[in-house]
Amino acid sequence: MAAREQWTGRLGFVLASVGAAVGLGNLWRFPTTAAAEGGGAFVLMYVVLCLAIGVPGVMAELALGRRTGQSPVGAFAALKPGTAWWVVGALGVFTGALILSYYSVIAGWVMAYTVQAARGTLLSGGAADLAAAFDALISHPWQPLVWHLVFMSVTALVVIGGIRDGIERCSKLLMPILLLLLLAVAVRVLTLPGAREGLVWFLRPDWGALSWRTVLQALGQVFFSASLGMGAMITYGSYLSRREDIPRSAVTIVGADAGIALLAGMAIIPGLFALGLPMESGPGLLFVVLPGVFMQMPAGAFFALLFFLMVVIAALTSSISLLEVTVSFVVDRLGIGRRTATLAAACVVALAGVPSALAAGALAGVRWLAMDVLSLADFLASNLFLPLGGLLTALFVAWVWGARPAAEELHLGAARFATAGLWTAAMRWAVPAAIAVVLAAGLIGGR
Ligand code: TRP
Repeated sequence: MAAREQWTGRLGFVLASVGAAVGLGNLWRFPTTAAAEGGGAFVLMYVVLCLAIGVPGVMAELALGRRTGQSPVGAFAALKPGTAWWVVGALGVFTGALILSYYSVIAGWVMAYTVQAARGTLLSGGAADLAAAFDALISHPWQPLVWHLVFMSVTALVVIGGIRDGIERCSKLLMPILLLLLLAVAVRVLTLPGAREGLVWFLRPDWGALSWRTVLQALGQVFFSASLGMGAMITYGSYLSRREDIPRSAVTIVGADAGIALLAGMAIIPGLFALGLPMESGPGLLFVVLPGVFMQMPAGAFFALLFFLMVVIAALTSSISLLEVTVSFVVDRLGIGRRTATLAAACVVALAGVPSALAAGALAGVRWLAMDVLSLADFLASNLFLPLGGLLTALFVAWVWGARPAAEELHLGAARFATAGLWTAAMRWAVPAAIAVVLAAGLIGGR
């Protein structure tokens, strides 16, 4: 058997992981959830949970992947053969497919916006028409469906063609541009009259507004954004050389991810205040506020095109990591070729996404717990399945594999792993306890 493929080096690995982490979770989901959950307190909980659970969690998944050299299902089976632990990996495959099914729908909206921006129709109406234009797009009888299928096809093509030369190179080039653009937009927004109030709302915690449900949302956001809880990081770790420093990489990945989320929040939420839009703008936040801001920028039409194009690319570097987990599972388990496996997986996920694509259109009447089909899929995946997968992974690493052997794996390539004691204690007690409490209280307590 050929040796397992490895990343070209630390830079390639870190950039690919940051590429998987940074996506719609940062640019769309984080600002939307922050707006819905009351701002500052949610944001602070998110930062705290990134440090307390995100960083040790990424370390655990990378170590598990590197030690076993396998994708999720095989990784659990390899360290504890003959037991049911592989089911945790299987849960991850299922969760990844579920996330991709609606992720692709939202990425499809972004594609539609990119095309509108390219044709010059995006900013041609007045600022007041933006919300209506967005609603018209997502409730259209078939357009969201077509864009969803287009995005899934592109994702499948990239995964078939191999990730390294295409997507890795293109994200190395484009991610820095996205960051610069986001900075430019944030500066423009923060200098708009009325933006200050929004920044304060975004950053100042209002503890009275903090409920268990909000903490659960913050936890789900950490998992979603860091690509944790479904084995994506296990898979990425399986391509990692023993010379790489996992603890340091984990800090870089989670830090870059959270930094870009916070920047996106600062670019969008104060814009809401400055444009006088209602706070509960829902999933349309990114699609309504930002075009309104671009209208107020010199060369706004050009920047709008560039920006939405970057969002498509950021979504693509994430969606391939989601599809890759399912594909590697099918290839490893069923022994079919990569091409067939990718096409089959993409078709299943595309079909599973149809209800989400119609959520604001034909299925607009279907609601449960005040959520439409797409929001419900997102709520279940991010706030239930990911934390559950993360909890089981943490328990597995700490108690089945063993926190000490796991820490030894982390020591490889990280001679000065000064916080090893802290990490083992966190993995054994703090991380599982925190996830379990937030999960239980958030689901039972409601608002
Ligand atoms: N983290 C990505 C984002 O923020 C989405 C994503 C990619 C993901 N891979 C994942 C989420 C694995 C959960 C698990 O857009």
